[in-house]
Amino acid sequence: MFDIAKLVQDNRSRGLDLQATYINPAFAKVLKTIGFDRTWTRGQGAYLWDDKEDRYLDLLSGYGVFGVGRNHPTVRDALKTAMDADLPSLIKMDAPVLSGLLARELLKKAAHTECERVFFANSGAEAVEAAMKFSRAYTGRNEFLYLNQSYHGLTLGALSVNGCASFRNGFGELYDARALRMGDLAALEEALATKRYAGFIFEPVQGKGVYFPNDDYYQQAANLCKRHGTLFIADEVQSGMGRTGKFFAHEHWNLKPDLITISKSLSGGYVPISAVLLSKHVHQKTFSSMDRSVVHSSTFSQNDFAAAAGLATLHVLEAENLIQNAERMGQLFLDLCRPMVDRFEMLKEVRGKGLMVGFEFGAPKSLSLNIGWKLVHTADKSLFAQLIVLPLFTKHKILTQVAGHGIDIIKLLPTLTVGEDDVRWFARAFEDVMIELHKFPGSIWDVGLQLAKGAIGGKPKPEVTI
Ligand SMILES: Cc1ncc(COP(=O)(O)O)c(C=O)c1O
Repeated sequence: MFDIAKLVQDNRSRGLDLQATYINPAFAKVLKTIGFDRTWTRGQGAYLWDDKEDRYLDLLSGYGVFGVGRNHPTVRDALKTAMDADLPSLIKMDAPVLSGLLARELLKKAAHTECERVFFANSGAEAVEAAMKFSRAYTGRNEFLYLNQSYHGLTLGALSVNGCASFRNGFGELYDARALRMGDLAALEEALATKRYAGFIFEPVQGKGVYFPNDDYYQQAANLCKRHGTLFIADEVQSGMGRTGKFFAHEHWNLKPDLITISKSLSGGYVPISAVLLSKHVHQKTFSSMDRSVVHSSTFSQNDFAAAAGLATLHVLEAENLIQNAERMGQLFLDLCRPMVDRFEMLKEVRGKGLMVGFEFGAPKSLSLNIGWKLVHTADKSLFAQLIVLPLFTKHKILTQVAGHGIDIIKLLPTLTVGEDDVRWFARAFEDVMIELHKFPGSIWDVGLQLAKGAIGGKPKPEVTI
């Protein structure tokens, strides 16, 4: 008899071997090198447990998919019920009710925009690809504008608007697109005036580095796009679904994007799903006739399980006031950690919107610390931030991430369920790591120099950021 529980039980500790043999040996090496080779046994809410029954605070939340927390019972029960009901999912020549209901609920959240249609897909990158195609079809233009440091996924279209060279390199020529500096309205206007651009795509709060404008750059950019017939595309794959303390992050700037992409936590982390919200007019240009009614589509889109999980997730967000919690806990992270900027010379800024929180580091003035800083940066431009992430994990049992390639920033992307105790747990741990980091020589630098030797020696760079 097939017994999945036994299969997991019998093979629990073999994950790394299987990864190294059959999936991604380089990634398996990274995990081993940086000591992230744990055997995880379960997850619940904001926590993970390993095979020693040690509890970890998960401030990475599966790159942001567990907005409502890991294994939320309401989402799980909705899925179990949907499965037990033997739903006639994916008939394809059919109009699935659950997807229709989910579309209606999502559009209610976008009532401040002109969005009246939803296109469903299965991943963030797929939603971005769809938004790019819809924009091309609507404007009759081919090219796109995007911001430095942007991340919109890794398929070829999305990669063309990726602001990070290390993701782009090695894959040949990408589509025509132009990168802009956030805040540079003159460059934006000059580009728009050429009338070559179908869309301007941006993440209201950037995943890489947690950058966002503190002024009216976005409003001005939206006005300029409108004036020049370029669609204004908010990629909310990471920042949407309440993460920043509002359902959509663009609401912080009172924006009305022409297209909005969402994904990640839309289905509680259970089933891949993404969506593009768009106006009737833009939609109509692509799906213009019966002939073209499935001219853009995907086999698994509008599947019942994704939609059931999506509806349950929206319910949980509201029933548990998780968006308000994201705002409150985000503020607590800032309140507890910002004062450390004055105490620790390498900590330059703590910034965030709700539960996207970034910690930016910079070169120290002290001579001894500067030696360490230079050594580590000479070895590998992305290594420094890992020196913070490592002790947070190994010593304090907190999972965080490096916020991008070649930048000295770490990022928190917690579940929206984190509570005050969790935030204080992090703040205490972070303070301890800062104290250790500001001692040179010291244990953190020893690890850094060990890893640096590995990086110089051609071993895998201990850096993974999505
Ligand atoms: C803003 C944004 N867009 C798109 C994507 C790509 O999503 P996926 O990894 O599901 O393709 C991501 C993933 O992190 C993202 O943060």
